[in-house]
Amino acid sequence: MSKSTEPILAIEGLRKEFRRIMALKKIDVCLEKPGVYAFLGPNGAGKTTTFKCVCALLKPSGGRVLIDGIDVRSDTKKAMTRVGVQFDEPAFYPYLSGSENLHVFAKWIDPGCVGRISGMLELVGLGRAGKKRVAEYSWGMKQRLGLASSLLSDPKLILMDEPTSGLDPAGIADVRSLLPKLAYEEGRTILLSSHRMDEVEQICDRVIIIHQGGIVADGTLAELSSEARIIEIHCTRPVNIIEALRRRTDVSRIKQTGAQKIQLSAPGVSSSDINRYLVGENCDIDQVIEKQETLEDVFFRLTGSAGADGE
Ligand SMILES: Nc1ncnc2c1ncn2[C@@H]1O[C@H](COP(=O)(O)OP(=O)(O)OP(=O)(O)O)[C@@H](O)[C@H]1O
Ligand SMILES: [Mg+2]
Repeated sequence: MSKSTEPILAIEGLRKEFRRIMALKKIDVCLEKPGVYAFLGPNGAGKTTTFKCVCALLKPSGGRVLIDGIDVRSDTKKAMTRVGVQFDEPAFYPYLSGSENLHVFAKWIDPGCVGRISGMLELVGLGRAGKKRVAEYSWGMKQRLGLASSLLSDPKLILMDEPTSGLDPAGIADVRSLLPKLAYEEGRTILLSSHRMDEVEQICDRVIIIHQGGIVADGTLAELSSEARIIEIHCTRPVNIIEALRRRTDVSRIKQTGAQKIQLSAPGVSSSDINRYLVGENCDIDQVIEKQETLEDVFFRLTGSAGADGE
């Protein structure tokens, strides 16, 4: 991978309006080093719209996108040679084989990458199935073919919109092991959207959270989770304890997280304060502990809901 002093991706004040919907209010993202970056957000937050603006499928209403220092609007063709994209519903010609589809795609983007086709099919586990017509592919096989097509041009930047959606456990494991290899052995920068917090925690260096068309967090998981901690109470009768906690104004986000477990947020209040308070309220408690937030906790704290579809 060639070295450049420019960030591989700079999104500056990006806005996108669809008639009366302000899908992106102001998006600023700067990716300077190779790595695996997560782009998280509830349904409708603006992830796919951002990706489409980055790869010139949508015209922004304001702001700009630079890939490797190249402005996507003014020098689209050159900028697009640096980026590979995988959307969650990749479109292929059904009557052509996987390999033939990649030939069509290669001729369109850069005939020089025809030589990479068989290697990319092998890489995504479609070595033999490459000869089959795409009409006979399962959803997961189409996802894998989408991944192969995104890697065809040997891109520095790879955008992946939910890369493991619809894959079987073996496919998920393949993609999870492939991404760090693409980033750290081959020096690529991967920005992926995902709804799977475990996946993001496992493979991503940095997490960018988008909510209602704006960036609400950007940092490593350690940075994001150190902003707030959680108190967890283990008990036999959560109902009484929840009632007692609701009487305190310095306690928020009280939720039952298991049959005998409650979580809450209480900045500036120690677990021993909570313990003393509950004993004073005649509540039976087994244990009160302080915990670092998980990515899921961070996500719900910042986006304020369990997502439009309750995921
Ligand atoms: N072509 C379009 N015309 C009108 N509104 C659109 C269009 N595309 C997206 N939107 C709106 O823009 C907002 C952001 O949508 P987007 O698809 O970017 O969300 P997302 O974060 O990718 O969500 P999901 O997790 O469901 O994939 C939504 O309110 C959506 O309804
Ligand atoms: Mg989307």
